[in-house]
Amino acid sequence: MSAPVKRSPKAAQTIEGGRFMVVGGASLVGSATCEELLAKGAAEVRLFDNFSFGSGEAIAHLKDDKRVTVVQGDILKLHQLLAATEGLDGLVHLAAFMTLSMDRDPWAGIDVNMRGVQNVLEACRANKVAKVVFASSNAVYGYGPGVKGDLVEETPFHSVGAPPAAILYGASKIVGEQLCRDAHRRHGQDYVILRYSTVYGERQHYRAANALYIVETHDAVKRGERPVVIGDGSETKHFVYVGDLARANRMALESDATDVAINTSGPEPVTTLELVTMVAEISGRPDLTAEKREPDPTKVRLTSGGAFRIDHAAAKDAIGWQPEVGMREGLARLLAWRDRAAG
Ligand SMILES: NC(=O)c1ccc[n+]([C@@H]2O[C@H](COP(=O)([O-])OP(=O)(O)OC[C@H]3O[C@@H](n4cnc5c(N)ncnc54)[C@H](O)[C@@H]3O)[C@@H](O)[C@H]2O)c1
Repeated sequence: MSAPVKRSPKAAQTIEGGRFMVVGGASLVGSATCEELLAKGAAEVRLFDNFSFGSGEAIAHLKDDKRVTVVQGDILKLHQLLAATEGLDGLVHLAAFMTLSMDRDPWAGIDVNMRGVQNVLEACRANKVAKVVFASSNAVYGYGPGVKGDLVEETPFHSVGAPPAAILYGASKIVGEQLCRDAHRRHGQDYVILRYSTVYGERQHYRAANALYIVETHDAVKRGERPVVIGDGSETKHFVYVGDLARANRMALESDATDVAINTSGPEPVTTLELVTMVAEISGRPDLTAEKREPDPTKVRLTSGGAFRIDHAAAKDAIGWQPEVGMREGLARLLAWRDRAAG
């Protein structure tokens, strides 16, 4: 049994009329989160990003809203964060290197995912920002043969048999989480950690290893080619739709829950074969069946020891959240967005 969720009235932020910042806002989760906060009546949403991965294109739909301020800044520069966090009620921290980027540049990835979090928390402390939402990941459970079955918040980290970049990423998120706990212990900083499973949706990029199955399948079937699955296609993946996550970020700000880490995953996991088949069907090419291939040893893969499911029951208890968008519906939205963006 997990401990009861800690609650504090000062942890609960009212979105309507409030001032918020999304750090790492110019991308997949950030752009959807800004949209959600604006739709719920926020007076101001600052979007802080150094545009190393993000783009103006990802936030083009937000720029005409007078309540949005884009701040070009780097979380490794504390003075920039100190200036940007003045007068805020809450902050959502998203800026990070994921596994594939960590593989390319572990030095920068460790700085951003660890020192960067420390800087964000320090700026929040200095400017008395009441609530922080930190984007963690199911990578805190690790990868490789030890990962299978139900993954709950108490599941330990598995590192044996997994690629270094995946473990560096997962371990850096564990450090980020502990920095939040430490800021709470030392300074009473209220926070909620959301452990996202693999995100997919509008403004999808090519940086998340598992979501490559979706975008690469869509690209292949558009070219009239058969999509590829690695192995026999029975590998489990557990996704969450980006709009559901934006709602989770907003509800975590609103909630009186504090000092807690919770999973935010979609309704159900899928196998890679089911996923690739669904993408081909939605794209109007069910005839393009998946081709099974052996893994490419030069590529980073996120493996498990068998079927698994990321349990999100604790999120309902802590912040009242549960996923609403099923995989087929979310994929249809994502593919429609990709088709529109391609013209
Ligand atoms: N996308 C997923 O599948 C997934 C899954 C689990 C967890 N997460 C976590 O969710 C968060 C957001 O995911 P995303 O897919 O939107 O990420 P992303 O990589 O697309 O976006 C992160 C944003 O942070 C910005 N950034 C990077 N370094 C920065 C720095 N030093 N200073 C300021 N900004 C910087 C990038 O420019 C980018 O716009 C990340 O923390 C990620 O670890 C994502």
